[in-house]
Amino acid sequence: MTDYKMLESQAEALLRDEPDGLASAANFVALLYNALDDVNWLGIYVLRGDELVLGPFQGHPACVRIAMGSGVCGTAAATLATQRVPDVRAFPGHIVCDAASRSEIVVPLVIDGVLVGVLDIDSPSLDRFSRGDQDGIERLCATFCRLRSGRGFL
Ligand code: SME
Repeated sequence: MTDYKMLESQAEALLRDEPDGLASAANFVALLYNALDDVNWLGIYVLRGDELVLGPFQGHPACVRIAMGSGVCGTAAATLATQRVPDVRAFPGHIVCDAASRSEIVVPLVIDGVLVGVLDIDSPSLDRFSRGDQDGIERLCATFCRLRSGRGFL
């Protein structure tokens, strides 16, 4: 069971004094990847124009560009809603980057009211992410976005 409260404090301590967006995003991703069990890929896709482009991540090399509305990431970005997918093979249009991934969660990242990208977390287990995980991960993303407020992103 992940201690999301503790992770939030760690994220706050790691990010609050750092003005650089790239360094902050890279450290945020590394913190989460090492703290969450049963995860094979975790990273940020950055919104560039009208497509999502691969940003800081941990795991195997992944697809670089995802169109708005495409796959789980593009759906989260287009709808501004977290996508929690218990079985990626049952998600229409899922983009296979790592064949080991069986479930995933994607959370939109919104800074100062503007969509800047998404956080994508993949697991090799079916139905890895519970409602409680979703709440904890959304709070972590909200902390990250709050700490980037007024400082820009990538
Ligand atoms: N699963 C994603 C593609 C990105 S990889 O998982 C790293 C999707 O369908 O949006």
